[in-house]
Amino acid sequence: MQNENLLVGIETSDDAAIYKVNDTLALVQTLDFFTPVVDDPYHFGQIAAANSLSDVYAMGADPVICMNIACFPKTLDPHIIGEILRGGYDKVIEAGAVLAGGHTVDDKEPKYGLSVTGFVHPQKFIANKGAKEGDVLILTKPLGTGIINTAIKGGLASPSETEEAIRIMSELNRGAKEAMVTVGANACTDITGFGLLGHVMEMAGGAQVTMRIFSKRLPMIAAALNYAAMGIIPEGAYANLAHVQCGTFFEEGLAQEMIDLACDPQTSGGLLIATPKENAEALLALMEQKHVSAACIGEVVKKEEAYIHYLNQ
Ligand code: CO
Ligand code: CO
Ligand code: CO
Repeated sequence: MQNENLLVGIETSDDAAIYKVNDTLALVQTLDFFTPVVDDPYHFGQIAAANSLSDVYAMGADPVICMNIACFPKTLDPHIIGEILRGGYDKVIEAGAVLAGGHTVDDKEPKYGLSVTGFVHPQKFIANKGAKEGDVLILTKPLGTGIINTAIKGGLASPSETEEAIRIMSELNRGAKEAMVTVGANACTDITGFGLLGHVMEMAGGAQVTMRIFSKRLPMIAAALNYAAMGIIPEGAYANLAHVQCGTFFEEGLAQEMIDLACDPQTSGGLLIATPKENAEALLALMEQKHVSAACIGEVVKKEEAYIHYLNQ
């Protein structure tokens, strides 16, 4: 039998588990780690930590205590390991949390991330299933990091494109989370490996609603569309498309690269927030004040046959 204090567990595909301690405090627990997405070890550490912290922000919670989880080959230069851990440490400090230890095991391929414990009021966390008819959908951070990472691996991305992707992936979702809890929201998740449409599908399915996504409003890294048109697309995008295809209505005339972009697996992506329409303007204004790039990309309507209407408008 489930413990009654477990407010969010494994039954919903939410970003974190939530455990109620008392009437004013609940613990938020997450764990995330992955293989290097960029060559520079310090940046990799920053991106991995920002990604791990993001699952706590996606619940509308504050990260408090972090632990490193890492796998390194015995042959890896200790200086490189130090740089990865320094990148992670710096992000934890930026998040206002503490790093309290961790664990490393031997492995052929390096991996790094954090286990994060956060705090939230037991009635004030924001799950991924609470979207309501009449809500609008706000997305932070531009899409396309998976495509740019693929271009980087293929030696095609320019230094400025590489830098832009690193800056986006390293950015904490802290400001976005602060704006969201200040203004109020019905549902939230962060955009990661399943791509925009994969995470929209989870959110729409959890709430039994249909979400209309306006492709022409999607924020994106400018170069990503060009690479997508050249076929520079990560393998995960195809799996994501296969996964959402039967629950999505794709409007006629959509360019293939706009579909690829919407299925592009993101590394440390932004927050997708469902909030009542009357909140939208205030939320976007507060995001701007906090220097968080954000756009209104869709709306929530009564459940139709498809969970997602991906529109050529
Ligand atoms: Co997540
Ligand atoms: Co995660
Ligand atoms: Co959430």
